[in-house]
Amino acid sequence: MSNSGSFARQEDDSFANQPAMYVGKLEPLEVLPAIQVQDVSFRWYKGETVLESCSLEVPQGEFWMLLGTNGSGKSTLLKLLAKLLQPQTGSIHISPHIGFVFQNPDHQLVMPTVGADVAFGLVAEKLTYAQVRRRVEEALNAVNLLPLLRRPIYALSGGQKQRVAIAGAIATRCEVLLLDEPTALLDPDSQLELVAQVQRLVKDRGLTALWVTHRLDELDYCDGAFLLEQGKVVDRGDPHRLKQRLMQTPVS
Ligand SMILES: Nc1ncnc2c1ncn2[C@@H]1O[C@H](COP(=O)(O)OP(=O)(O)OP(=O)(O)O)[C@@H](O)[C@H]1O
Ligand SMILES: [Mg+2]
Repeated sequence: MSNSGSFARQEDDSFANQPAMYVGKLEPLEVLPAIQVQDVSFRWYKGETVLESCSLEVPQGEFWMLLGTNGSGKSTLLKLLAKLLQPQTGSIHISPHIGFVFQNPDHQLVMPTVGADVAFGLVAEKLTYAQVRRRVEEALNAVNLLPLLRRPIYALSGGQKQRVAIAGAIATRCEVLLLDEPTALLDPDSQLELVAQVQRLVKDRGLTALWVTHRLDELDYCDGAFLLEQGKVVDRGDPHRLKQRLMQTPVS
């Protein structure tokens, strides 16, 4: 999946004309964050306000997690980042090439086999057969699934399906991975395998990832975390500190 928001192609001149180090009202950072949300508010049509003055930044090349109670707005925020929704106020700056991984891979994988599914995401790029083949093999290799290239999707485990979804994003050369509770349907072993794999991908390939979860043991794998409450980020930073805090008052 890709979208049109880009640091290089900002329509918001006030942002584009700033020096490279400019990060608005936030603290100065060494590099521009790959994800930057400033004072975003979002309300469903005729519905309640979900996000209110919500701000966060994910530095490039880092793996961050987003936690919060049911209904606190985590999935809505991810959809805003993917430009599937538009905020009523505030601004979102994000790298242009985004990969989105859903909670349930059966809602995402559409082709009959592993290789065909990863190739499907490349259709819009009008590549040659050899280029598609190379991209598919490279992406499946990155998630250790190359031996399953011809395997039917129905014959995969839940964890393998999630890795196919991630390979689909990697094949499109995405720079940012957005993952909405990708381990929710997995058993504990597959869960930790997947989170460790995404951690490795982020570090090896220079990706940036934002991962929504309720599972506190996953915090051991990330560089930082945000806690969302009633549409606002109420805590952020060191995942071990957040884990301690949430172990005392768990996220439901
Ligand atoms: N399509 C929709 N139309 C109207 N309201 C919606 C829609 N989708 C979600 N909501 C509402 O928006 C609020 C935030 O939902 P969201 O799915 O972002 O929460 P969440 O933090 O992801 O929760 P969970 O942990 O259960 O996945 C909820 O009150 C929900 O009922
Ligand atoms: Mg959700």
